[in-house]
Amino acid sequence: MKLLSLLLFFFFMVQMTKAQSEPEYNYDESKVPEFKVPDPLLTFNGDIITSSEDWLEKRRSGLYTLFEENVYGEVPGEIDDLAFEVIEQGEDAINGKAIRKQVKATISKNNRSISFTVLIYLPKEKSKTPIFLSHNFLGNHTVNEDPNIIMTDAWVMNSDKLGITDNRPKESSRGARSHRWAIEKIIDGGFGLATIYYGEVDPDKNDFSDGLHSLFYEDGQKNPKPEEWGSIAAWSFALSKTLDYFETDIDIDETKVIAFGHSRLGKTSLWAGASDQRFAGVISNDSGCGGAALSKRKFGETVARINTSFPHWFCDNFNAYNDNEETLPVDQHQLLALIAPRPLYVASAQEDEWADPRGEFLSAYYATPVYNLFGKEGIPSNIMPEVNQPIQNTVAYHIRTGKHDVTDYDWGQYIKWAKKFVE
Ligand code: GCU
Repeated sequence: MKLLSLLLFFFFMVQMTKAQSEPEYNYDESKVPEFKVPDPLLTFNGDIITSSEDWLEKRRSGLYTLFEENVYGEVPGEIDDLAFEVIEQGEDAINGKAIRKQVKATISKNNRSISFTVLIYLPKEKSKTPIFLSHNFLGNHTVNEDPNIIMTDAWVMNSDKLGITDNRPKESSRGARSHRWAIEKIIDGGFGLATIYYGEVDPDKNDFSDGLHSLFYEDGQKNPKPEEWGSIAAWSFALSKTLDYFETDIDIDETKVIAFGHSRLGKTSLWAGASDQRFAGVISNDSGCGGAALSKRKFGETVARINTSFPHWFCDNFNAYNDNEETLPVDQHQLLALIAPRPLYVASAQEDEWADPRGEFLSAYYATPVYNLFGKEGIPSNIMPEVNQPIQNTVAYHIRTGKHDVTDYDWGQYIKWAKKFVE
């Protein structure tokens, strides 16, 4: 009896130690499962696409539909109205180098509406400016110290760092995120920057009673249907509608708009670029799982984990692939391929293992054959570049030193690349 309890105790201890030493998420390259990378050029009928015309005619839209139905969700119909109003303008912003505009965009449907404010900086001495367009995480007022930036009155995420505990924005958080927005560098580079607080489009919480989704509901409906859009698709939709505004503003070159985004907002810029081909270029900064990173590698964040932590980001159908990535009919390199032939920049950070830098890189590599069909250069080899050694072709990639963030280094590369491939 004694021996049995001893044995049992021993067995229990071994199991405990195993559980503690086995991390819940894989960060070990040797444990990445073998998987088949779905060939972007192979059609559902088993034909191989060999020309850009065939890609556009026979492959692209079917692939897009797979992402819509299984990952991000469909937009359920047309809006009734879209209105813009310039609500503030300043001629002397960013050390006297820029003009500022704040534009209220209002989307209406079914006698309901939402509004969001687009904050725009443009270089003073330029007309028809190419522009980076991006959502921000904590409110337009956090991207720069400029006291004229209108503070949002929408729900904001609580933040210990910013002392936000009641989901209300704080005056003291003005400029709190300015390190992520190299506005002066952007202006000096001859570009504009437009940014929107994403919480004004759809608050980032698992609650579909508010935000853009709620305008589209039929009587009694409380949630999008399983194949209908999650928050990422709603945020992307707002980027597209902002492009509609750019088409009306003579100071902006609407043919040179680059969708940019960091992290969940990088997932958003990618989906915006795939959904709206008016975007002239796309930048994904550390977008990770559900962004640029290949899902089937299951490295760092997984599909099950993202759908559990953030059940509102994707369509409900995406849950079918929790711990079941093998059966996903697509992988994220095909999302990148949907952006072809337009310039695309994928960037990673060395310490951002959660986002799987290698998976982000390989995704850009596996999207390259589609760019090649258009005579565009992508990522020529599956060997990752050294840190801080960007590859800048129509498809560009860098991995920089440091953490999950947007840095001046990142912006320096984006501006250089955009000057060559978009401007
Ligand atoms: C979490 C999430 C990521 C996301 C990131 C962010 O870490 O797991 O998928 O990219 O938040 O948006 O900051």
